[in-house]
Amino acid sequence: MATGTEPPPAARPHPRGGGVHTTTRAAIAARHLRTDRWWLAPAATAAGLLAFVVYSTWRAFAGADYYAAPYVSPFYSPCLAENCVPMKGGPNWEIFGAWWGLSPAIIILIFPLGFRLTCYYYRKAYYRGFWASPPACAVAEPHRRYTGETRFPLILQNLHRYFFYAAVPVAGILTYDTVLAFRDEHYAWGHMGLGTLVFLVNIVLIWAYTLSCHSCRHIVGGKLKHFSRHPVRYRMWRLVGKLNARHMQLAWASLLSVGLADLYVYLVASGVFDDPRFF
Ligand code: FES
Repeated sequence: MATGTEPPPAARPHPRGGGVHTTTRAAIAARHLRTDRWWLAPAATAAGLLAFVVYSTWRAFAGADYYAAPYVSPFYSPCLAENCVPMKGGPNWEIFGAWWGLSPAIIILIFPLGFRLTCYYYRKAYYRGFWASPPACAVAEPHRRYTGETRFPLILQNLHRYFFYAAVPVAGILTYDTVLAFRDEHYAWGHMGLGTLVFLVNIVLIWAYTLSCHSCRHIVGGKLKHFSRHPVRYRMWRLVGKLNARHMQLAWASLLSVGLADLYVYLVASGVFDDPRFF
């Protein structure tokens, strides 16, 4: 019962003893006490993400130079609009109309974009890099209020698991594209060019990033009371856990590789160089 003599909430004695438990920040005038170059990581993150956003926006809206037989850019696969260029054997289904001539990439990029945008790692990266919320560990953020991800629009971050479900078939289709890359420009099988290698590296990184997802880890090994009764799921969970420990590195490596795979197709399709063939 309130007695009217309790200390204010900000300086209440700690229930386990040992002095005063404060519910507000320590009264330190300086914004932080760090002496290292803490700003370097968020600045580099923001620069890297910005570069990818500018490049991918240009390529997604270009609507051209995304197919150089046998390679299709991962930004445009599967191509689901009427105005897709014909790709022999490629994932090219005219499910949607031409949509006022809009680039077909817009239809499909929603899914990988949503997957990355709601990814736990990228959230941390762009919250720090762009919103300074917080800019780094032990550095106070400039915002006065903090509501976390409990309100619109950030509450939509909880859709991440569903974007994971969408990302898996997209990765499957990019795998199919990689298999098709073992043809030559006349669609004869059993060939390999530099582009095939670029696609192979990209698909390995895409799968590694997708399977290292925190949601994937929970789907594989979550809600189990006894791992001993589920040895297969336990083994899969351990495997996903190892990838999960590298999630940040895989997020960057796969972002770079998907951009490079698109750039490669663009350069070949626009005639900058011919795809070197190994055999
Ligand atoms: S947490 Fe990063 S992709 Fe799921």
